[in-house]
Amino acid sequence: MLKGVLFDLDGVLTATDRLHTRAWRETCERWNMPFSADTAPLLRGVGRQDCVQLILTRAGMELSQTERTAFAEEKNELYRTLLDELTESDVLPGVEETIAALDARGILTAVASASKNAPLILRRIGLEGRFTAVVDGTMITRSKPDPEVFDLAAKLLGLLPKECLVVEDAASGVESAKRSGAMAAAIGPDAKGAGAELEIERITDILSLWK
Ligand code: BG6
Ligand code: MG
Repeated sequence: MLKGVLFDLDGVLTATDRLHTRAWRETCERWNMPFSADTAPLLRGVGRQDCVQLILTRAGMELSQTERTAFAEEKNELYRTLLDELTESDVLPGVEETIAALDARGILTAVASASKNAPLILRRIGLEGRFTAVVDGTMITRSKPDPEVFDLAAKLLGLLPKECLVVEDAASGVESAKRSGAMAAAIGPDAKGAGAELEIERITDILSLWK
């Protein structure tokens, strides 16, 4: 029986993924590095340093460790400036309704994000304190598709991963959920065909599981 829901943040609760893309693109321009449109979806769910590696590999370029750190920091500064524009209106449609319905049914909820900025984002969109647990990028050592983030989120809810549903918009996140033993619901085009048990159009679609 499913007793908990583990929500990815970027692209599931709020559309910060477009801000990540803007910040990577602008940083690449400043560093004279190519950033193609098809790189952006590959960065979903991937930790910051791993994003740098992916961008470099696709650009066929190399940077020293010091330069990689500076590149990632520059992107993050830009990204955090963009986050200043985020408000409660940036919560994606159906999210509040879904959380409220899960609360009413006694289903526990957690956020499981690779982002070190997750607490700041939750504060800005007014969802701070709405979940029993929040796992962010500072609490894990391995990026999705490793299952660490979902293992920890389930543990903080006092549940086993197999008792949880993961909601993800990234293929790497769906793989991570599967490896943890959780059931996965994929939302949006990038997670389609990644092996999730459910492919949904709207976040409220998950509520049919508890009817
Ligand atoms: C994930 C995003 O939630 O967080 C990725 O989907 C991002 O695109 C990752 O790279 C790390 O984010 P941050 O905020 O720690 O740089
Ligand atoms: Mg995501």
